[in-house]
Amino acid sequence: MPLASPHPLSIFSAWAREFGDIFYYRAAWLHVYFLNHPDLIEEVLVRNYKNFLKDRVVRNSRWFFGQGLLTNEGDSWLRQRRLSAPAFHRERVASYAKIMTDRAVEMLAAWRNGETRDIHQEMMRLTLGIVVRALFNVESDETTALSMTWTWHLLSQHPEVEQKLHDELDRVLSDRVPQFSDLPALPFTERVIKESMRLYPPAWSLARTVISDFELRGYRIPAGANVVMSHWIMHRHPTYFPDPEKFDPDRWLLDRSQKLPRFAYFPFGGGPRQCIGSSFAMMEATLLLATIAQRFRLRSVPDHPVVLVPSFTLRPKYGLRMTLESRASVTESTRTGLQTQAIGH
Ligand code: HEM
Repeated sequence: MPLASPHPLSIFSAWAREFGDIFYYRAAWLHVYFLNHPDLIEEVLVRNYKNFLKDRVVRNSRWFFGQGLLTNEGDSWLRQRRLSAPAFHRERVASYAKIMTDRAVEMLAAWRNGETRDIHQEMMRLTLGIVVRALFNVESDETTALSMTWTWHLLSQHPEVEQKLHDELDRVLSDRVPQFSDLPALPFTERVIKESMRLYPPAWSLARTVISDFELRGYRIPAGANVVMSHWIMHRHPTYFPDPEKFDPDRWLLDRSQKLPRFAYFPFGGGPRQCIGSSFAMMEATLLLATIAQRFRLRSVPDHPVVLVPSFTLRPKYGLRMTLESRASVTESTRTGLQTQAIGH
């Protein structure tokens, strides 16, 4: 089974329901242990990280990713990680905010009310443009584009959430383009992104290969075996996320989320190999959502099939075609409507 299976999400979900926190399966010659408990994930990613390598699939795909930070190991990884770190420091990341919103405004200038576009393509182009300008590097920014793409999809299905988002944006920004300093005043916008990455984590699973024999919850995991952890499955665990399929950004209000174990939600991984771009990505997604949702509402196209492809990342198989609806024209017509009413009185 998996990796090559066409439906790993539904198979893993069924197995997790049936077998619980940890279970074993074979994929051809490969022994795989699937972990679905926050403490077990923490054991692998944090407490015993030295006993694991990136799994074979990632290691063998260096030709595809290049010998970047993502696929590197050992001392060479550590050197490269230290060299990259300054570009991702908090102050540096803050200075990228304007690049992000400038690019978004540039994209919006070409958008017309009523036209239909593939939003996945638009988000890919946008985030690629940003990462090239901000970091002179094109490593792995498909993930932020996907987090945006799935957010638009979710918003189009949940008008009540979309309305709360618009209320926050209109109240805090009115017509102004958002800036870095606006971020603390946009908590709902950030919660929308967090909740979208819970339901549609752009990186939907992680795998590691065991270096030497290892014991986990009574299982002896032999050297050479794989362990798999899936954000998609963990993020839908009903113990941590009641009514797990519900898109509910307010799960992330502090009083509701602070009791969650560290690895119940891990869209950026964890431990020493945690995503180096996580603050960059969170800021980018929040600013782009704010800038775009201020001006446009994206409507789903009724006949367009939205099909998930869980390959390295969680992609929409046929893209995500959506119709652009300019919010200015909506506000304008509401306003005109109100004026007409007022005159009529
Ligand atoms: C929503 C957006 C993103 C998500 C969900 C995401 C997710 C992840 C995850 C889960 C890992 C850990 C992989 C593992 O442990 O096997 C990772 C690693 C990494 N990410 Fe991201 N990422 C995002 C955005 C970015 C951005 C914007 C950049 C750079 C500009 C970036 C650069 C990296 C790099 C270089 C690594 C490897 C770090 C290392 O191994 O030391 N990511 N990412």
